Amino acid sequence: MEPFVFFGGKGGVGKTTVSCAYGVKSARAGLETLVVSTDPAHSVTDVFDQEFGDEPAAVEGIDGLDAMEIDPETETQRHLDGIRNDLSEQVSAAMVNEINQQLEMAHQTPGAYESALFDRFVDVMRNADPYDRVVFDTSPTGSTLRLLGLPEFLEGWIDRLMHKREKSIDLFEKAAIGSNEPRRVMDGDPVLARLQDRKEFFEFAGGALQADAAFFLVLNPDQLSVNETRRAIAEMRERDLSVRGLVANKLTPEPDPDENGRGARYLRDRVATENERLREVRETLDPPLVAEITTRTAEVKGDLLEDVAAELAVETESEAPTFV
Ligand SMILES: Nc1ncnc2c1ncn2[C@@H]1O[C@H](COP(=O)(O)OP(=O)(O)OP(=O)(O)O)[C@@H](O)[C@H]1O
Ligand SMILES: [Mg+2]
Repeated sequence: MEPFVFFGGKGGVGKTTVSCAYGVKSARAGLETLVVSTDPAHSVTDVFDQEFGDEPAAVEGIDGLDAMEIDPETETQRHLDGIRNDLSEQVSAAMVNEINQQLEMAHQTPGAYESALFDRFVDVMRNADPYDRVVFDTSPTGSTLRLLGLPEFLEGWIDRLMHKREKSIDLFEKAAIGSNEPRRVMDGDPVLARLQDRKEFFEFAGGALQADAAFFLVLNPDQLSVNETRRAIAEMRERDLSVRGLVANKLTPEPDPDENGRGARYLRDRVATENERLREVRETLDPPLVAEITTRTAEVKGDLLEDVAAELAVETESEAPTFV
């Protein structure tokens, strides 16, 4: 299977739990594994009972497993600071103030958050060579999808910007003929160089996502979650990304057949409803249901995580990336 594995899905369905369990499973299978989370709630820290930050750190007690938590807020700030620095080298002092104000506003837009996270994801993919497998615990479905739609969109936009820049340099050269070596102006142009960088970045991102990533969606056995999953599969398909498999989480356990108290009857009814939803998943959605995980009586961590890992019928074997 591809070296990069993403687990997506609606809020609270169990993405972080499944990502960590799969990380454990991959590490136990002998792969150098990294779990990357962008969960603002620092859930990976909760799952492993260990503090994680912006850089990969070894998970205690599990050989071959590292984890990191990307903080979206910090990342957005860092991203904007980067843009600010780049721009301030290229514009007059009078413009800097104006740009700062614009950037502050940009920070508040939802796109800034996604774009910053996307950059960081791609960065991790580009620097993934110490690992055989990188597991991404993605943000909820909608924004993740918008994120995945960015490369193609931005590539076209960058092409147009580069074209404009080339034209204006060309005009400038024609006006200044005699005093300038024409090619030198074009070659050393910082704006063009920066645009070219971004273009290559997005080409890499698009290629790596197509060739080296496998996507799984986590769902719960209720109608809302099934509908959401159906939409997510369709939206991914529109972006030429296919969903490899579905993980059903938080299934109600069946009571013993001889039990007939109120609790047992409740569980049995609940199981019947959930089976109906799962039947809909199997019959109407293309990606196979690769795991069915029952609800535990407590949060999934420690030994429970190993149990859940065992229930995840997702292969661990990893191929080398083709695109990095
Ligand atoms: N099979 C399970 N049995 C019991 N508890 C579970 C199970 N799966 C997940 N949980 C619990 O449900 C809560 C939400 O799970 P998790 O954090 O993995 O979801 P998420 O999709 O990552 O949420 P978010 O969208 O907020 O990031 C956690 O407290 C987790 O321990
Ligand atoms: Mg989470």
